[in-house]
Amino acid sequence: MTAITLNPTQQTLRPVLVFDSGIGGLTVLREARVLMPERGFIYIADDAGFPYGGWEEDALRARILALFAQLLDTYQPEICIIACNTAFTLAGADLRAKFPDMTFVGTVPAIKPAAERTRSGLVSVLATPGTVKRAYTRDLIQSFASQCHVRLVGSENLARMAEAWIRGEPISDDAVLAEISPCFIEDQGKRTDIVVLACTHYPFMVNIFRRLAPWPVDWLDPAEAIARQARRKVELVQGAEHPDGFDFAVFTSGQPNFTTRRLMQGFGLKMSASAP
Ligand code: DGL
Repeated sequence: MTAITLNPTQQTLRPVLVFDSGIGGLTVLREARVLMPERGFIYIADDAGFPYGGWEEDALRARILALFAQLLDTYQPEICIIACNTAFTLAGADLRAKFPDMTFVGTVPAIKPAAERTRSGLVSVLATPGTVKRAYTRDLIQSFASQCHVRLVGSENLARMAEAWIRGEPISDDAVLAEISPCFIEDQGKRTDIVVLACTHYPFMVNIFRRLAPWPVDWLDPAEAIARQARRKVELVQGAEHPDGFDFAVFTSGQPNFTTRRLMQGFGLKMSASAP
């Protein structure tokens, strides 16, 4: 990547906007910040629409497009990272078509790297019900994993459970196990060896998954790869420093509770007072 030198009289660099339905996108934000330390970050959680997993497709697409019309206008980011499989597999192409001047870095189920790495040929994709039923996901399997047996596991509850867990609420092992069990297949002496974490909420729970898994597997978290892709798209400006105290989070409900506000502080994000 070519680096340009910052002229002190230039405007402050435009921020990076990271979007998810809830707090799952924080798993991507923490990687992105490491790779783009000179950039300010705005984290948007559409918690008023959470969870996205069960939405009807046309309604969710319309919601996301309307929201971005507002977000781009208000925050003028340099780039948007859609840190949500459920949103991007549905509306990624529409976002790019509707806002051609904006760069969108997406999140899609990491089926290609899983197919490249599996030894047994048995791969599972753990995602929201929305992501599992997307044509986008089926196309990824057809294009990159036709030689594998890919099991799609749509979880009704894990995104909510991850939200509860990261906020410090207890969750039961039995409930988690019930959600991840369908990922584990044994067939003719072979076993699933990779589970794709195809919802950005799930990496928060990966240590629980590891503890409860019937046998060890590789849990594939795409966060770092997404951050690297974003870094490739955002020019590295030599000499630029992170704008002091800039990073903030916006919740579309306008009413994040106390534990959510604390969580955001933990991630170095101030809370913006208003909904977008
Ligand atoms: N974090 C989102 C994803 O990556 C989905 C969570 C939800 O809203 O259901 O798919």
